[in-house]
Amino acid sequence: MITVALAKGRLAQKAVEVLERCGLGLDALKEDTRKLVLFDDSGEYRFVFVKPSDVPTYVERGVADFGVVGKDTLLEADRDIYEMLDLGFGRCRMCVCGYPDSLEKAGGVLCVGTKYERIAREYFGTRGKTVDIIKLNGSVELAPVIGLSDVIVDIVESGKTLEANGLSVLEEVCKCSARLVVNRVSLKTKDGLLALLEKIKENLD
Ligand code: PRP
Repeated sequence: MITVALAKGRLAQKAVEVLERCGLGLDALKEDTRKLVLFDDSGEYRFVFVKPSDVPTYVERGVADFGVVGKDTLLEADRDIYEMLDLGFGRCRMCVCGYPDSLEKAGGVLCVGTKYERIAREYFGTRGKTVDIIKLNGSVELAPVIGLSDVIVDIVESGKTLEANGLSVLEEVCKCSARLVVNRVSLKTKDGLLALLEKIKENLD
């Protein structure tokens, strides 16, 4: 059996569509249920639904053979897993955002609000910028508006949240999209895994 870890939400929905195009029978995954473990029609594939930031953990530990997760989460998690495919959906950008003059106006230490501590630290670190990172768990755009931080490092998709709060993109850190990640041992030992990955590649939009 092959176990798949999916990040709950939109990425899971898109991943299911791709896997169905590969021939898997996944009606059970589309039912409204609170079950966290579900199977395909053949019983060959087991699906576990977890928080996005837990997908790399499940895959690294080998309780899931592969998973689907955003590049943002993957960079932040920094786990020992193989990133095999860019699935092309869930596209967005990781950006430094704030008011147009936020970077110039900040003092010697730039105060950064973010859910992505590691990404922010590395981005400013390689630029020799001293930062004070404030870890937040959501509504990150509020931080510069209310004076908690000078800027934020966050995901920008449509740009509507920034616009609604009078903020804009100041610098782009990287582009993100959904990635297929694989456990290192599973790749060598699980029959059918490589063939499925090939099929997924052929069935991407
Ligand atoms: C994400 C992200 C931004 C927003 C960007 O937040 O952190 O706040 O989406 O999307 P947009 O560019 O299309 O407006 P999410 O919706 O996950 O909620 P959160 O504030 O609770 O993190």
